[in-house]
Amino acid sequence: MEIRIDRLEDIRNAARQFVDNMGNGNVFAFYGKMGAGKTTFIKAVCEELGVDDVITSPTFAIVNEYRAEPSGELIYHFDFYRIKKIEEVYDMGYEDYFYSGALCFIEWPELIEELLPGDATCVRIEEKEDGSRTVTF
Ligand SMILES: Nc1ncnc2c1ncn2[C@@H]1O[C@H](COP(=O)(O)OP(=O)(O)OP(=O)(O)O)[C@@H](O)[C@H]1O
Ligand SMILES: [Mg+2]
Repeated sequence: MEIRIDRLEDIRNAARQFVDNMGNGNVFAFYGKMGAGKTTFIKAVCEELGVDDVITSPTFAIVNEYRAEPSGELIYHFDFYRIKKIEEVYDMGYEDYFYSGALCFIEWPELIEELLPGDATCVRIEEKEDGSRTVTF
C-alpha cells in the first residue's frame, strides 16, 4: 500500500495508517535516499506504538532500543549507514534482534541485505519534488 505525507504535520496520521497495516511482520527494512525521511517516519511510528522516550537518529549507535508503553514491548531501531564491514553486524549479534520477535525498524538495509530475514517487509520512502513523501510497502 502507499501512504502519502503531504506535509510534516501529517506524519502522525501517516504513522497511524502504517501501524494499522503492519500485519504480523516484525522486521521492517526502510529504503530511501539520504534525507528521504526514514528516521522521521520511524520516530513517528514508534510514537504511535507508545514509545515516550525522545527518539533521535541512531547516528552513533548501530541500534537503539525503545520501550513501548503500556505493553512494555521492545522496539529496535537500526541505522547501518556507518558500517564498514559486515563483520561489525555479526559482532553486534544482529540475529538476537532480528529473530527475537521484537519489532525491528532498519535504516540503510541495503548495506546488510544478505542478513535480512527472508520475510522482512520492504518499506520505500520517497521524497517528491514538492517535498511531500510517499511510504510504500
Ligand atoms: N514527511 C516529511 N515532510 C517534510 N519533511 C520531512 C518529512 N520527513 C522528514 N523530513 C525532513 O527531512 C529531513 C531528513 O529527514 P530524516 O533525517 O528523517 O531522513 P533520513 O531518511 O533518516 O536520512 P538519513 O539517510 O541521513 O538517515 C529532516 O530535516 C526532516 O525534518
Ligand atoms: Mg536517518
